[in-house]
This record gives sequence, C-alpha cells and structure tokens, in this order.
Amino acid sequence: MATGSPPQIAPVEGQRIQIVSTGSYVPEKVLTNFDLEKLVETSDEWITTRTGIKERRIATDEESASTLATNAAKKALEKAGVDGSNVELIIVATITPDMLFPSTACLVQQNIGAKRALAFDIEAACSGFIYVLEIARQFLQSGSVKNALVIGSEKISSIIDWSDRNTCVLFGDGAGAAYLERSKDPQTSGIGHSELGADGGKNGLLCMPGGGSKIPATAESLKLGHHFLKMDGRETFKNAIQSMTAAARRVLASAEVDLSEIRWIIPHQANQRILTAVAEKTGADPSQLYMNVDRFGNTSAASIGIALDELASKDQLNRGDKILLLAFGAGLTWAAMIIEW
Ligand code: UT7
Repeated sequence: MATGSPPQIAPVEGQRIQIVSTGSYVPEKVLTNFDLEKLVETSDEWITTRTGIKERRIATDEESASTLATNAAKKALEKAGVDGSNVELIIVATITPDMLFPSTACLVQQNIGAKRALAFDIEAACSGFIYVLEIARQFLQSGSVKNALVIGSEKISSIIDWSDRNTCVLFGDGAGAAYLERSKDPQTSGIGHSELGADGGKNGLLCMPGGGSKIPATAESLKLGHHFLKMDGRETFKNAIQSMTAAARRVLASAEVDLSEIRWIIPHQANQRILTAVAEKTGADPSQLYMNVDRFGNTSAASIGIALDELASKDQLNRGDKILLLAFGAGLTWAAMIIEW
C-alpha cells in the first residue's frame, strides 16, 4: 500500500443521499468444489480451508455482464417502484464488460428503457461497487441528477484460465444493483464518510494483460494466455488485509464513528481468511461481519451489491443501521464507506 493515504470524503452538510432499494442476480448454474476437482488438481478440502468457498455461479454463453446487470437493475427498480424511463444516471462497475465499447451501462440503459439517463462504466475491479456509489453520491449531491442506478456486474468466468488452479477456484459470476435518491427521511443520513484509494505501483499483482491497446488480440497473445486473469495470490492476500484494515480505521475516525456502532461490515467477498483477518485486526465482533463467499466465491465488483441485497431481502437491515463497506482489488484499488441504512 502507498505510504500516503487518500483524502477522506465527507457528506455535504444537510444533504442526504440514500440507497432506496437494491437488487441482485446470479446465474442458475452452480459450480461446486467437487466439480472443480474434475477440472484441475485440487480438492474441496483445500478450497474450503484456504478460501471458505464451497460453490460459485457460472453464467451461460447467452449471458454477459449487461444481461446480469439488467436483471439486477430491474429488481432494484421494481422494489423502488420506479420505471426505467425515470432513471437519470446509470453507472456500471465491471472488469468484464460485454465488449470494450460501447459501455455496458449503455446496454443496460437500452434494456431498461432509461432513455433520459446518462450512462457510463467505471473500472476499479473489486472496489468497483463502492466507487460507483461514491460517484453517484457526487452527482446527486451536486443536484445534476435526481436519482441514480449503480450496478456491479461481472462474468469473471469469461476471463478465467480453467486449467489454472491458482485462480479458477476463486471466482464466480453475478450482479448487484442499488437505486439511489436524495432523501427526505430524517431517520437516516444515508451515504456518509468514504475513502477511495489506489496504488498503481502494484498494477502487476492482479491483471489481465491482453485485449487492450498494449497487447491486442493476436494468435500469439491468445497462445500465451494474455487474455486470462493473472494474480500473485500471496501478495494480493497481504495487501488486501493491510489496505482494508487501514481504510476502515481511517474512515471510522474521520466519521467519528466507533466500530461498536456498526451493525454490519460488508466487505468485498474475496476469501474468508482475508475477511476474518480484517475483522480481527479492526477489533470487530464476528457477528458484525457479513459473508456469503461460501456460496458465490469472488464476484469482483458485484460482491458488495449482492451481499447488500441479500441482507436487505432477509430483513436484516433496519432504517438507521450503520454499515461499513470495505473493498480491495486490482489496480491496486481499495475503498471504504459508511452508510446509514
Ligand atoms: O478480489 C481481490 C483479489 N483476490 C484476492 O483477494 C485473492 C488473494 N489471495 C488468496 O486468497 C490466496 O492467496 C489464495 C487462495 C489464492 C491462495 O492461498 P494461499 O494460502 O496464499 O496459498 P499459496 O498461494 O501460498 O499456495 C499454497 C500451496 C502451493 O503449493 P506449494 O507451492 O506449497 O507446493 C500452491 O501450488 O497450495 C497450492 N495451490 C493449490 N492446491 C490445491 C494453489 N492453488 C491450489 C488449489 N488446490 N486450487
């Protein structure tokens, strides 16, 4: 992690930007650890003890980041009782867009009939969901738009080397969405303090080298496997714990919120060992930590949105509950955000 810490972002006094509703979608196909035992030299025991993952979802050939995102978005809008035509801003966080251009957000705009919405993608890997929440908050706070739909959507299975046991056991597909508005609800202050960070000096730890302008697709680049996700697992592991722990501490301090006031810590679901280590180092009680990595694996930018939607759907979130979102991913990037539900 960089020695300097990024600026803390504070909510503008008197402005409440609230998550009105959430939605999520995961593909039907379940890939278990036992299925993976048939593909690579691995075992359910190794995957479970090293990562906490038991199964993950895999999209069909017909599905893509935009279809997963659209399904999640429609659910969020339905819960809010809002028609797609009223949406003014769509931001999609993804590292597995349908194609390099046009953006996946433009495809979602078309699918939900959001003709008035401005639409664009951002790429912050697994930190993407917190990044899009922050960008949407800024648009809403400035008064430029009245509402926003943010989505983290990934078909990570499309960039996995299914013969590499170091990576193929970790990831899964899915999408999580949130619909935001300016709030008049005095019971909640909505999105609170946050921190978005990056350390480009460590760009090589987790990347997909091919497919961009540096290494375009050629027969040679395909043969060399440049179009697959590459990761230095051990270094990524260490950096994940360090950066999420430090960002959690800084954001709590700047918000003057004690960790004991946080009802839920919702971290990016990368690896159970990373999440429990962050909880231990910050001094959190295990009951504050929400985990679903056992069922979905690492869904990159989608994971926090899926987790938020699960909690909301199970009625485990009450208006006024304080939540701490934490993320870490390729870039390197990291992010922390406090939300009052
Ligand atoms: O979304 C954010 C980005 N991603 C992450 O946050 C992931 C961060 N990293 C991790 O979660 C962990 O580093 C892994 C789960 C990837 C690996 O766990 P580890 O405890 O760091 O294992 P390791 O890489 O140190 O490997 C230990 C051994 C190695 O064998 P040797 O060299 O000790 O003989 C690996 O070859 O485990 C071997 N190994 C496997 N064995 C069975 C690696 N992958 C597998 C596998 N099945 N799937």
